[in-house]
Amino acid sequence: MRIEPFLTEQFFAEYEFSARYLLAPSDCETMSVGELLRLSGSSLEELGDLTLGYTESQGDPQLRSQISEMYTEVRSEDIVVLTSPVEGIYLAMQTLLEPEDEVIALRPAYDALNNVARHLCREVLAWNLVPGTKRWELDFDQLESIIGPQTRMLVVNFPHNPTGYVPSNSEFNRLIKLARKHNVWLFCDEIYRGLEFEPTIPSAADLYEKSIVLSGLSKTYGLPGLRAGWLVIRNRDLRDELINWKHYTTICPAGPTEFLARKALLVKENLAERSKAIIRQNLKLCEAFFARFPEHFIWRRPLAGSVAFIEVNLAKIGFESATAHCHHLAQNHGIVLLPGKCLGFDDTFVRLGLGRVGFQTALEAYATVISDKN
Ligand SMILES: Cc1ncc(COP(=O)(O)O)c(C=O)c1O
Repeated sequence: MRIEPFLTEQFFAEYEFSARYLLAPSDCETMSVGELLRLSGSSLEELGDLTLGYTESQGDPQLRSQISEMYTEVRSEDIVVLTSPVEGIYLAMQTLLEPEDEVIALRPAYDALNNVARHLCREVLAWNLVPGTKRWELDFDQLESIIGPQTRMLVVNFPHNPTGYVPSNSEFNRLIKLARKHNVWLFCDEIYRGLEFEPTIPSAADLYEKSIVLSGLSKTYGLPGLRAGWLVIRNRDLRDELINWKHYTTICPAGPTEFLARKALLVKENLAERSKAIIRQNLKLCEAFFARFPEHFIWRRPLAGSVAFIEVNLAKIGFESATAHCHHLAQNHGIVLLPGKCLGFDDTFVRLGLGRVGFQTALEAYATVISDKN
């Protein structure tokens, strides 16, 4: 069976490893294995002693116990360790969705959150984030008009890629209340959790028994090459069914990944603080950049996370679409910005990634291109 092209990954595959200026990645600055081991008080010898046998399908008990401590209502049995965060989207949807089902998914969204559901079931309705004058907004009237007994799953992602939106406590409670009222499974992708600058909402895993929460070490903790991810599923039957699906995909997590993930979780606060320090600095640069080009862009400051979604005045920058602008930038200036169309939104938006140390140089290169247009 065919599935829609994964536009974000295809766009990155074309440019990410050759371009000079990366302005779009959603992950935060990474580190070497040696740095991670030093930071966590471990040694290369310890890693060297690891044996490379099969591991437990559900994940190393010690790692699951460390993960469960990140939540209040979650036990280590509720965790399923994955072979990559993205695998969790496929597994959860494959386990839960049937061809006659209807799903509601926040839009824009990381491609897999929409496309896997569209591949598996009858209809995926978009719950649109709204670009307000100063910030992104959630439209609960729209959600209430489309949710109902026919809805099998509601798919959200907070902090949100690409807008950086996080609901307030009352919005999040309203969302959970609606899901509960309609007996809907809530798939909540929390892979950017920990990148908040204000006190924030609890995990959906702690609030709703029919939630499936996705998380991992790729974004907040800057370790995407580790491919460390997990699902929190408090419903036992669903968890068992999902682990059965996992036997058909990856069987068990990679031992070296689990080892390093355990080390990373020992110092998770330091890793998240390191990422947030970079993002804070880059947000300041953004404020200055968008103040300099008020006619070219609309800047809606992200509330959390490592990405921002920028509206482009195409007439002003002289392109027919954001996609054309992004290809031009990558091919002629070595600058990578992600077209919003890849994330299922209007072709007048681009995604900016705020988690990397090279951001200042990359933004200066972009400023030169924009200035030359005038
Ligand atoms: C919202 C969201 N979920 C899941 C993933 C997948 O993470 P990974 O690439 O580490 O598997 C991403 C990656 O960009 C993402 O943005």
